[in-house]
Order: sequence, then C-alpha cells, then structure tokens
Amino acid sequence: MANTEKSVRIDYETQQFYDEYWPKYVPYYQQTREYMFRTIRERHTHVALDAGCGHGVCSVVLSEIADHVTAVDISQACLTTAQEVAGRHARNNIRFLNQDLQFLSLEDDQFDLVWCWGVAMMAPDPVKVIRNLVRVCKPNGVIYLGLYKKTWLSPIHELVRHFCRRYMATPHRKRFVMNFFAWLTVIASRLKGNVINLRPDNVSIQAQVEDWYYPPYKTFYSIKEAIAMLEMMGVRAECVQEQVGRMKSATIFVLRGVKSK
Ligand SMILES: C[S@@+](CC[C@H](N)C(=O)[O-])C[C@H]1O[C@@H](n2cnc3c(N)ncnc32)[C@H](O)[C@@H]1O
Repeated sequence: MANTEKSVRIDYETQQFYDEYWPKYVPYYQQTREYMFRTIRERHTHVALDAGCGHGVCSVVLSEIADHVTAVDISQACLTTAQEVAGRHARNNIRFLNQDLQFLSLEDDQFDLVWCWGVAMMAPDPVKVIRNLVRVCKPNGVIYLGLYKKTWLSPIHELVRHFCRRYMATPHRKRFVMNFFAWLTVIASRLKGNVINLRPDNVSIQAQVEDWYYPPYKTFYSIKEAIAMLEMMGVRAECVQEQVGRMKSATIFVLRGVKSK
C-alpha cells in the first residue's frame, strides 16, 4: 500500500503549502462518500486514479467502486495522512505515489476513471496537469475534473491573494488576515440572516481564509473554456455540477469527460 515513488520534478512551493495546510483537515468520510456517489455515474470500474488525493478520503471512496486505485499527491505529509485514512478503512487496493501531476511519470492509457477534484488549478501550469490526466486515461475512460469557477470577483480575489502572500505572510500578519476575513464573514452572514457556512470537515473560517488566500498558485476557468480545453485534448466533456462542491464550496464546478477512442 505504501508504494512511494519520487517523480523527478516537484513544485516545492506547492508541496510546502500542502504539507503544512491540508493534512490538518480530514473531512467526514460519510459526507464525502455521499457527494462522490452523487457525482460519479459509474458504479464499478477497474482501475482509477485519484489525482491530488490530499488526505485520501476520496481515494478510499474510489476504492469501493474500483478494483485498483492509484492515489497521487505532491505532498508527502498528505500521503502519510492518506495512508493512515486508508488503513483505518482497511483498504488494500490503493497505492500511493508522491509526484507532481505536471510531470506525472505514469504510463499512457491505463486508467478507466480519473478523479481530480480541486487540484489542477492549484498548479503553476494547470494545462500540463490536465494533459497528463488525459494522457493516462484509457480511450473511452472517464475524467472527473473539479476546477475553480471564474467570476467577476476572481481578479479581486487574485489581487488579495498576491497581496497576502507578498506582504502578509509572517505568522502574526497571517493571523490578522485570517481573523479579519473571519470577522467580515460573520458580520456579512448576520446581516443577511444566514447561518455561517460550516464545512463538513469543521474547518474554522480562519482556515478557509488560509486555503483561499495563501496557496502559491490559482487559476480560475469559465465552464465554457474548461470544456473547450478538454475538447482540444480529445475529451468530450459536459458540466455535471455548475457550482456546488463537496465542502459546500460555491466556487468549484465539475466536468465529466470521456476520452475519445
Ligand atoms: C484542495 S486539496 C484537494 C484534495 C482532494 N482532491 C480532495 O478533494 O479532498 C489539493 C490537493 O492537491 C495536491 N496538489 C496540488 N498541486 C499538485 C500537483 N501539481 N501535483 C500533485 N498534487 C498536487 C495538494 O497537495 C493537495 O493535497
């Protein structure tokens, strides 16, 4: 299960961010499972790839419908957590690989199903990641791709993210930013009479702010341009979720694509 191969090239900034951030927040398994079963149409598949597996909860769900799962992540800390999660669920059909998806060294045409949720757009070059996902997918295989949706607010978010990373990165300033946005969220929710959008992994608002404004890279796509990009790579794609992600995220859309023969 703990088969770990190093890829030749890794984006260390991304690796460091996720080593520190992501393994701390393992979501509730049952909620992720329900979400994935609602999203994935296939009920049985032979070989599946969890591209950017994070804490491994999605890999465990995939291991229910796939005979074999390969879980890849750039972060060794995430993979260690993912292996623990798989162990807790007594899964022995998942292998874990430490690789950067931009330079994925797996062979062509080997996966029946590729799952890549909330990952590709965090790479310096998401197109390289997506090309690799298509390359390793079998002809007629299925790709599920969750990407950040471009809206009129995206350039503003990007400005804030660059500012935070450039000027507000010391622990003290970071805490200030996280508390400031948490406070804004609470006020805005109260004014609108909304209940605060707590995620099933019970991440604090501060942690959500960190996840939003501190990753080293982010790219936003419109659904149309993401579908066009996949079509250029020989994948017939449709949008299966316009805006709702698993973690009540209103920022991710999900495409389902089938690779041409
Ligand atoms: C937002 S998390 C999503 C994790 C998981 N897919 C899920 O939905 O629970 C993003 C994950 O992608 C990984 N990641 C980001 N860029 C990557 C890359 N270039 N290659 C491999 N993994 C990457 C991070 O380490 C992190 O675990």
